[in-house]
Amino acid sequence: TDKKDILALIEKAETTHELTKDEIVALLIDTEYEAEFFAAADRVRRMYVGDEVHLRGLIEFSNTCKQNCLYCGLRRDNKKVNRYRLGPETILDFATKAKSYGYRTVVLQSGEDEWFDVAAMVDIIKKIKELGLAITLSVGEKPREVYQAYRDAGADRYLLRIETTDKALYEKLDPGMSWDNRVKCLQDIKELGFELGTGSLVGIPGQTIESLADDVLFFKSMDADMIGVGPFIPNPDTPLAKEAGGTFELSTKVMAMTRLLLPDINIPATTAMESLNPQGRVLALQRGANVVMPNVTEGEYRQLYLLYPGKICINDTPAHCRSCITGKIQGIGRKVAETHGFRVKRA
Ligand code: 5AD
Ligand code: SF4
Ligand code: FES
Repeated sequence: TDKKDILALIEKAETTHELTKDEIVALLIDTEYEAEFFAAADRVRRMYVGDEVHLRGLIEFSNTCKQNCLYCGLRRDNKKVNRYRLGPETILDFATKAKSYGYRTVVLQSGEDEWFDVAAMVDIIKKIKELGLAITLSVGEKPREVYQAYRDAGADRYLLRIETTDKALYEKLDPGMSWDNRVKCLQDIKELGFELGTGSLVGIPGQTIESLADDVLFFKSMDADMIGVGPFIPNPDTPLAKEAGGTFELSTKVMAMTRLLLPDINIPATTAMESLNPQGRVLALQRGANVVMPNVTEGEYRQLYLLYPGKICINDTPAHCRSCITGKIQGIGRKVAETHGFRVKRA
């Protein structure tokens, strides 16, 4: 692809929000026109979702997981992790505090932990809904009836990253898990009327640029409402300790591509991005992102939810993060949204 072609492709992406796989690959490979590419994603972000940044308060309520994903610090074979579970009262307390900081959404995230049965989760969801907050769940693969029960209880959104659309690679890195079942979960979540969030890891060993292009096309085919992408960061206590990680640049390129092709969705500036680059979230907000998910987990639990090393904010308080992130958002001329921040579909 020559230079004029790259600029033409950026313009095509910006104006039509449609690219072929080969065209996506060409843009992801290009290094010469990155500034133009990111600027286009920033314009599309501004035109479709505006200057407001939605904050979602993240509660990491259990670091216990029955799965064994090779990249993740919380995998069941990692015996170095001090496992914790927050009780319902503590979760509700953190949600109440999240509300007091002005967050309009709480994200309940955990490993795949069967200790929290459906009745317990339903009860927590109902009580948080009474606070007037939107709820995003990020608790892994469940049978459709369980998703149904969570939806009926009032949960609004569900995050479940596909991690990679390369089925063979997925099943190698997530031993014992089925890629087809993951897609089935995403379809169930969508059909049940949740806002659907998915996304991928960038830079996992064995991943190609072609496969990242497939990821973005998959997001589009699923009509996802939220897409979170972040760099893979090798964790020393996992089998992938010695592997190379993903880069900040490539992960923001995949994110910017997602904004260009799914212009009206919500896209977080991810914690993993900032863990690789001290300006990572602000840069991501200027390359297509419009959401940040500050941590509202309190005390010692923060250090224990360690998916990867170098995770930001593990020694900060929720109050500190709240003012920190507001400063960063205002510092780039953006504003903190005061709505619940659901996707507003635009043609
Ligand atoms: N580096 C970056 N992200 C990771 N995740 C898990 N392990 C890592 C890692 N080592 C991501 C996965 C998961 C999300 C909750 O955290 O994509 O879906
Ligand atoms: Fe468990 Fe999620 Fe980590 Fe996999 S990525 S081991 S499912 S917490
Ligand atoms: Fe936690 Fe900045 S958001 S310290």
